[in-house]
Amino acid sequence: MKVALASDHGGINIRKEIADLLESLGIEYVDFGCDCTTSVDYPDYALPVAEKVASGEFDRGILICGTGIGMCIAANKVKGIRAALVHDTFSAKATREHNDSNILTMGERVIGPGLAREIAEVWLTGEFQGGRHANRVGKITEYENK
Ligand code: RB5
Repeated sequence: MKVALASDHGGINIRKEIADLLESLGIEYVDFGCDCTTSVDYPDYALPVAEKVASGEFDRGILICGTGIGMCIAANKVKGIRAALVHDTFSAKATREHNDSNILTMGERVIGPGLAREIAEVWLTGEFQGGRHANRVGKITEYENK
């Protein structure tokens, strides 16, 4: 699995925590920033990462901002992306098993680095269950491709 990772200025610390997690799990990843200490615009990070996942260059994406909301809204504008904003481990597992989410977003002003790490690990290891869930995801894809 190859993961594209990015944050805006509001998510730098959790991004570093997730980079550490990916290294400890031996998962290949590229960190697309930001390196900034000043304010940046989250779509400038969400959209390129989402495009890289949608194109198949990366298997999954993880995006962090202050709330996780802006990253999630922006990423979901890219065709083929199912970005999930997650702040608990139950939803992290469920969104992989049921929604086959390919991008995880989290908010650094909402949760701490320890929980973010646990959420990311659950999400990275969760498997899509297919079956009735595949029918449901298929309806989203069908609508998207209309
Ligand atoms: C930046 O101040 C903040 O708006 C951003 O990190 C994010 O929370 C947007 O949804």
